[in-house]
Amino acid sequence: MLKEAYPYYLANQAVFANTDLEVTDKYSGKVATRVALADAKAIDQAIGAAVTATKPLREMAPFQRQAVLEHCVARFRQRFDELAEALCIEAGKPINDSKGEVTRLIDTFRVAAEESVRVDGEIVNLEISARAKGYQGFSKRVPIGPCSFISPFNFPLNLAAHKVAPALAVGCPFVLKPASRTPIGALIIGEVLAETDLPKGAFSILPAHRDGADLFTVDERFKLLSFTGSPAVGWDLKAKAGKKKVVLELGGNAAAIVDRDQGARLDYVVERLAFGAYYQSGQSCIGVQRILVHESVYDALRSKLIAKVRSLKMGDPKDPNTFVGPMISVSESKRLSGWMDAAVRAGATIVAGGKVDGAMFEATLLEDVGRDQDLYRKEAFGPVAILEKFTSFEDALARVNDSDFGLQAGVFTDSLAHAHRAWDELEVGGVIIGDVPSFRVDNMPYGGVKDSGLGREGIRYAIEDMTELRLMVVRKTPA
Ligand code: SIN
Repeated sequence: MLKEAYPYYLANQAVFANTDLEVTDKYSGKVATRVALADAKAIDQAIGAAVTATKPLREMAPFQRQAVLEHCVARFRQRFDELAEALCIEAGKPINDSKGEVTRLIDTFRVAAEESVRVDGEIVNLEISARAKGYQGFSKRVPIGPCSFISPFNFPLNLAAHKVAPALAVGCPFVLKPASRTPIGALIIGEVLAETDLPKGAFSILPAHRDGADLFTVDERFKLLSFTGSPAVGWDLKAKAGKKKVVLELGGNAAAIVDRDQGARLDYVVERLAFGAYYQSGQSCIGVQRILVHESVYDALRSKLIAKVRSLKMGDPKDPNTFVGPMISVSESKRLSGWMDAAVRAGATIVAGGKVDGAMFEATLLEDVGRDQDLYRKEAFGPVAILEKFTSFEDALARVNDSDFGLQAGVFTDSLAHAHRAWDELEVGGVIIGDVPSFRVDNMPYGGVKDSGLGREGIRYAIEDMTELRLMVVRKTPA
């Protein structure tokens, strides 16, 4: 059950400023709760407070920051069911996926707690020539300063956690803007952080409409902007971000290759493809959008996959048997059905699914989608996948690379040579061998190339972005 209303968090304090933001149950469409909405004045105050918190937060000892993160882990475990239910309502995420996301939230904070006491430096050998004889270098990492975080609707908890947890691990104050359609998960994180003794101003969590939230991007008091969301918005923010460092986790049209040697394990491959393409209604940046299958196994895989897609239960996300719930909004499902209809008019065939009713979009599989179609080239971000045939592995790799995006790719192959070839040649941030591109655990480096983004998350890697190297050089005094 959601509460009747939620505050925002300004400089660590819950503020019931108003209840202007309605959050709907994405399945019923009804208002589920109301949330305080921040204006530009509140955002400005939060940034000022983050600046003030910079020094005390930097001066907290690593074991103290670790204790804050461990407190969060313990409280998230206690509030597991409440968190999962909140996700299920606010995002329309099927309850099993919602529970999976809470488990990942706990992992993300757990890993951050471990990393918080391992932010080390190194000794740099400077004696590379006669003029440097007697000099020694030492480097350490220092927190970059106040961070601006903008998190998306599709993983309201864990993609906020991927910003918040490493910031706390290194001692960066932050102001977070959660997606205004799904702010509850982040606000519960705020409630838990407010139980700790973080210095005042260390965190603010401010739901806000995009108009009026420019300060998150342009304010020069922020030293880093970390954004997860759509490519169009992300690159636009980067253009306006000024001198601050920018990390972008954007979208993709991820591909999975099924190699010629997979005939004996098609049931497993089909199971994973169906998961990768349709979990949480395909609303994942690494959801499978393009399935490239070697001609020798194409027909067998096609019929098994069609049967599997037709068997996926669509309905109320609160029902544990539901695999496909609603998309985030009717406008998103209309956008995607428009792309699907255009592809069909241009010659594509729907081989499974295809029905759309409001925000409910059936798990859908198509063949013969033209490579110039939006459905092929853009990020579908919905429960639609495209099946195509290839004859040579080289050609499959080239087709994966024929994309503006490059987040992750999956390759089902038993050939070590093909695995290495894919790893060498695919223009992506991560190649997953033996599984779908949708695989992610929360300590792995995660991020994209090309239009899919800049930088990497995964705690240790985010910590690199959230810190600066600071060098000390010591000249040994001659005796
Ligand atoms: C994303 O949609 O960018 C994140 C996917 C994940 O964390 O599994």
